[in-house]
Amino acid sequence: MSLLQEKDRKYLWHPYTQMHDYAERDLLIIDRAQGVRLYDEKGREYFDTISSWWCIVHGHNHPTIKAAIARQLEKVEQVLLAGTSHEGAILLAEKLVALTPAKLAKVFYSDNGSTACEIAIKMSLQYWQHVGEPQRRELVALARGYHGDTIGTMSLGGVPEFHGAFAGLLFDSHRLPSPYCYRCPVGCQQESCDCECLAPFAKLLAEKGEKIAVLIVEPLIQAAGGMLIYPVKHLQKAAALCKEYGVHLILDEVATGFGRTGTMFAMEQAGVVPDFLCLSKGLTGGCLPMAATLTTDAVYQAFYGDYAEERTFFHGHTFTGNPVAAAAALGSLQIFAEEDTLAHLPEKIRFLQGKMRRFADLPWVGDLRQLGMICALELVRDKAGKTPYAPAERVGWPIYLAGLKEGLLLRPLGNVIYLWLPLSTTLAEIEEITERVWRVLSDSRNIKGW
Ligand SMILES: Cc1ncc(COP(=O)(O)O)c(C=O)c1O
Repeated sequence: MSLLQEKDRKYLWHPYTQMHDYAERDLLIIDRAQGVRLYDEKGREYFDTISSWWCIVHGHNHPTIKAAIARQLEKVEQVLLAGTSHEGAILLAEKLVALTPAKLAKVFYSDNGSTACEIAIKMSLQYWQHVGEPQRRELVALARGYHGDTIGTMSLGGVPEFHGAFAGLLFDSHRLPSPYCYRCPVGCQQESCDCECLAPFAKLLAEKGEKIAVLIVEPLIQAAGGMLIYPVKHLQKAAALCKEYGVHLILDEVATGFGRTGTMFAMEQAGVVPDFLCLSKGLTGGCLPMAATLTTDAVYQAFYGDYAEERTFFHGHTFTGNPVAAAAALGSLQIFAEEDTLAHLPEKIRFLQGKMRRFADLPWVGDLRQLGMICALELVRDKAGKTPYAPAERVGWPIYLAGLKEGLLLRPLGNVIYLWLPLSTTLAEIEEITERVWRVLSDSRNIKGW
């Protein structure tokens, strides 16, 4: 064990980690990173197959982003955004508005994905008070949805494994079935599905639509809930229902934004325009914390008025719109333009799809799903019966360990093994990564019960 590992064990408490797992095991200490690769203290290489928690876009250490950060550090490193402004926040807001549908006209910054969503929820609730519909206080979300770890976003979360301990603290909200197509909650076949799982939403709106403030969803993929990729039609139908009953729609693109699904934003594939768009993770290319909640002029105008009218949105975080993070975000958008990042994606996505196909034949792979640069394999105990492993079996743990031996940083989500690759990953790297994943997953010794 290195001195750093010893001190890590002594002083650090890691997120989403059972520290007991590392009582006898050395934690991987990353010393440097380049492109899709991470290097540990001893110089060993690992592919960052999960984009360091789904945020790295152009690879680690991209020179354009580093230069933008360095330039900004010569000017101003932090300034409050209440009552003052700065070039980066302004120019970035202009670019985000230009990149997104015309209806989204205003940008409110914060510093992580949870707050991006929390802000959208609070804005919606306050909006309804300002426009004389204070009865619209009920919130709707999807089972297996994930929007963050604050009390508000946990209240709208649908992953009991994460938030069960706080159940008593969370406020009530409506939960619609998850569009978990492999295990359809209403028993439909994918070929003939007409998104029947949205019927409870239609019923809820018919019964009490005038009381519903907002629906929040992750477009096209419920990521933390198990990489559940769902049809465009579901998002379109949900959005149409919101429109019909005047309910706000929040699209949480914290994970899907910035090219990950093959388009700049997942919502583009469905042609759906929300009232609130939540962005973070890839916003800075993944290298600094920053988030943005975009909304419409109608929402903005409802908060606009004389101070005494009590229309101010009293919400803000110290590092809201931080200048260095804004410079990084502008650098990332510059790379999208200069490297024509999105134009290279279809070939990479097709190549990845080709490389993943054989995994579906493994007897322990129940479902293979892909959306853009995201691929997921759901492992099952028996393919015909789709019998899942119980969470306590930790089917992902031996796979994670075997991945490390192969030079892969994998982070299984329960029974789901996934790749969430930086957009910069080359065809040769996709080939190498999928080959190594194949070595891990095709070896029955790494799979529980086989
Ligand atoms: C869809 C989605 N929303 C919100 C969040 C929360 O973001 P953060 O961890 O930055 O608070 C995440 C994080 O994984 C996410 O995937």
